[in-house]
Amino acid sequence: MLASTSDLLETARRNVYAIGAFNVYNLEGVRAVVQAAETLSSPAMLQIHPSSLKFGGTPLIALCMEAAHAAKVPISVHLDHSTSTGAIQQALNAGMTSVMADGSPLPYSENLAFTKQMTQLAHQNGAAVEAEIGRISGSEDGLTVEEKEALMTDPDQAVEFVAATKVDFLAVTIGNVHGEYKSEPRLDFPRLIRIRKNIDIPLVLHGASGLPPEMISKSIELGVCKFNVNTEVRQAYVKVLKKDLSTAKSPDLVDLMQNAISAMQSVISEKLQLFGSAGKSHLHESPYASMLAANGKFSK
Ligand code: 13P
Repeated sequence: MLASTSDLLETARRNVYAIGAFNVYNLEGVRAVVQAAETLSSPAMLQIHPSSLKFGGTPLIALCMEAAHAAKVPISVHLDHSTSTGAIQQALNAGMTSVMADGSPLPYSENLAFTKQMTQLAHQNGAAVEAEIGRISGSEDGLTVEEKEALMTDPDQAVEFVAATKVDFLAVTIGNVHGEYKSEPRLDFPRLIRIRKNIDIPLVLHGASGLPPEMISKSIELGVCKFNVNTEVRQAYVKVLKKDLSTAKSPDLVDLMQNAISAMQSVISEKLQLFGSAGKSHLHESPYASMLAANGKFSK
């Protein structure tokens, strides 16, 4: 069933686990997430990155929405990292349940103004907004300790930002990076504690690929209730495809797709277990989601 992202994250926060938000590009990715979630009775999120939205357009959104509606467990559909008002409007028009208005590449005052405006727009459409301050980099290469620190979320600024923009969830930067960690991951947990102490909305951690289980558990304990995962799932897809293409003489496309789904599903299942959301789908069948569905907000 299509779920509200707010309901997923608030319920996860209350019960001290986290929701996995997986970037999807096509049918195989969507199937892998939904099958993993259904098999484990877990809630989950289908997440579309702007570059895959640019490529897949409305058919990709429709695929995610339809799959969420048809799923036996609560699934929400989210636009990841968007700096474009047009893409956010497109997501909202299609009934996606949340968007990330990502003004983090902008100077702070512009990030604040952009996020505030996008939050008003999303709330008018019954959707929730994730935003970010600090700046999650693609890698830690070549950065000094001071430069890394400067990119991290400032706990005091975070308080002001959340109050001024009225965002629903905050993505924090505490040493997490997108893509592979080139050295041992180091998360600044004292910083996370300071952020958590002053902010009463769900916190999000990007760049969950490659984080060891103990860092995942500690982050959940300290208030993170959404993890974004892309790289590890994508790598599983490409790895199995390469292997199949190098061994099968005349591969059937459906077999290739099926193997890709299985490979991604196993990575996703492992993450759902790690995040503690396995077995929690029943907690999310909330009156809120049914109320929105009854009002036609989330109905097809
Ligand atoms: P990874 O690719 O490191 O898993 O990060 C995904 C992400 O944060 C998407 O927003």
